[in-house]
Amino acid sequence: MALDLFSPAKLGAISLKNRIVMAPLTRNRAGEGGVPQAMNVTYYEQRATAGLIITEATPITPMAHGYPALPGIYTDAQIAGWKAVTDAVHTQGGKIVIQLWHVGRISHPSLLPNQAQPVAPSAIKPAGQAFTYQGLQDYVTPRALELDELPVIVQDYVHATRCAIAAGFDGVEVHAANGYLLDQFLRDGSNHRQDAYGGSVENRARLLLEVVQAVVDTIGADKVGVRISPVNPFNDMKDSQPQQTFNYVAQALNQFDLAYLHAVEGGIHGGGESEPFDFEALRKQFNNGYIANLSYDKARGNAVIASGHADAVAFGVPFIANPDLVARYAKDAPLNEADSASFYGGNEHGYTDYPFLTA
Ligand code: PHB
Repeated sequence: MALDLFSPAKLGAISLKNRIVMAPLTRNRAGEGGVPQAMNVTYYEQRATAGLIITEATPITPMAHGYPALPGIYTDAQIAGWKAVTDAVHTQGGKIVIQLWHVGRISHPSLLPNQAQPVAPSAIKPAGQAFTYQGLQDYVTPRALELDELPVIVQDYVHATRCAIAAGFDGVEVHAANGYLLDQFLRDGSNHRQDAYGGSVENRARLLLEVVQAVVDTIGADKVGVRISPVNPFNDMKDSQPQQTFNYVAQALNQFDLAYLHAVEGGIHGGGESEPFDFEALRKQFNNGYIANLSYDKARGNAVIASGHADAVAFGVPFIANPDLVARYAKDAPLNEADSASFYGGNEHGYTDYPFLTA
């Protein structure tokens, strides 16, 4: 029988009861000190029928923050807050990995320790404005990271991975997508370095590969995934040769025998026209599991699993509005509509109060 969204799967060491993955979703509702709080536990627990939950992007160090009210994964209090989340999801029979995040230049001094200047591969200011506690403010020109600072960032990923293990996660996803730090290194629009971390695609991928190696050494490759977004223009991103860049990244990641590669197959936030890109060619470069994401619905999700393009499909907005998305897809029940006004920040409204199917 052909595989579909309801077939069990294994991504590395992680067993999924179905192939319906909850995509990472920024919701800006963490408590004081970046500590997950009661409503965050409820939100993830409600969605534990997903085959796998990927948490919202989670800063690995104070310098990794770029938006208000993000949860972190670097203090004891944050570990305790996340432990309540993973316990609740596991009690419901779910699986959950945490997405490890450093925003790089997509930040603002008001969000950073001692009003620090954001850091990036190169001192190139992104177009647009930062979301801060004081409202929208223009991005500033970031400071180009010194060579000797890069091993410190790699160690920040290691520390966050250890915290994730202590918090009971089933694995970690390294966020190398959507215009944040690792993606800023990968794509040549934001990386003008002339040292071993810029120029050739091998050099631009070096920091990502060093981070993945260090994370793999900490938790084991079969519990590590990587997310990329080859043609997402969000956060003022571009690359002169995305197919070549990301085919190389997918191939290079084969050296680790990872749990999965997760690809954003276009531009997010209605992100304009993304250029042509052959995601099937990308997928063929990678030997292990592949999670497809962006604007999928049930029919197209089933189709990419049946065709072998993807091993699982990540759904974002549908999971915001439908905690029981899996049951709704199983029964072909109507979906709740998402309220975009309550996506970012606020309270339980638009977060934990979307209705479940009753019958
Ligand atoms: C966002 O807050 O809009 C956001 C955060 C992380 C992403 C993408 C978008 O990877």
